[in-house]
Amino acid sequence: MDVFSLVAVGQRAYLRDSVVRAAEELELAEVLPATAEAAARKLGLRSPHRLLRLLEALAVLDEARREGDVFHLRGRPHAPATAGAWGRIAGIIRADRPLAEPADEDSLRRLHRHLERAGADAARELWANLPDAHGPMLDLGGGAGTYTAAFLEAHPGEDAAIADRPQVLELAQVSRARLLPIDLLESELPKGQRTILLANVLHLFGESDCRKILAKAALALAPDGLLIVKDLLVEPDRSGPAEGVLFALNLALFTSAGDVHDPLALASWMRAAGLREPRRVPLSGSLALAAASP
Ligand SMILES: C[S@@+](CC[C@H](N)C(=O)[O-])C[C@H]1O[C@@H](n2cnc3c(N)ncnc32)[C@H](O)[C@@H]1O
Repeated sequence: MDVFSLVAVGQRAYLRDSVVRAAEELELAEVLPATAEAAARKLGLRSPHRLLRLLEALAVLDEARREGDVFHLRGRPHAPATAGAWGRIAGIIRADRPLAEPADEDSLRRLHRHLERAGADAARELWANLPDAHGPMLDLGGGAGTYTAAFLEAHPGEDAAIADRPQVLELAQVSRARLLPIDLLESELPKGQRTILLANVLHLFGESDCRKILAKAALALAPDGLLIVKDLLVEPDRSGPAEGVLFALNLALFTSAGDVHDPLALASWMRAAGLREPRRVPLSGSLALAAASP
């Protein structure tokens, strides 16, 4: 179980109705079979990116099939209208502009309580599979501290810090952790870290910001340090797993450039940041990559 599993499994009918309804509203039957680029041109869209994530979601739900880069619908799409953000997919794709995520205190609290509940098992599993991780550990974009709490449970006595925006750090309740207010894209990071974690963070950003964050993190590592990227998994051909493909569409609805980045892309950005020998860490249902200091 990980952060989006509950939604991807428990609300599958809602997600399916929403993507089929979006296909109906965009009149995809008139422009497919086609690649996302060709379909976007025919629909007069500014960019094919959000449409591609919808087509991949249709394929993973078996409402479309993919031959190379060409998508074919399985039938004429028809579904009831749905409420909420996923009920607005077609409009978001046409406008090529994401919805604003609610940033009020209550929504923030609800999001982070959910991340704590849904992420606790994955966090324990991660540290159990990384016995060579030591403190000081910096949990970048650590939120309420789910991964820091699990680190301190696995390594009692080690030093750990949760780094995040000040308003998010107020939600952290990890008694032995230090709190470090930062902006991931702007702040300089404290040097000498033996472990740096980016858990469920890089999916909020596009490639250039991911590269920037990885480069900052690489500079903050001690010579014997380890940088870990943990995130949702999507295969490089984006054929699955369903949870990652559906979450990528969610990111296309809520972020300007966020995406579920595949392991090959992440590993190549890690190498470009000077990190050495990125390797997969076994993690059920999610992705973790660990790489050594430059
Ligand atoms: C999806 S949450 C993941 C939280 C935690 N790592 C986990 O897995 O439970 C992403 C976190 O990144 C933080 N974040 C996003 N952009 C940031 C930025 N520019 N500076 C600092 N933190 C940021 C958010 O505040 C949030 O806590």
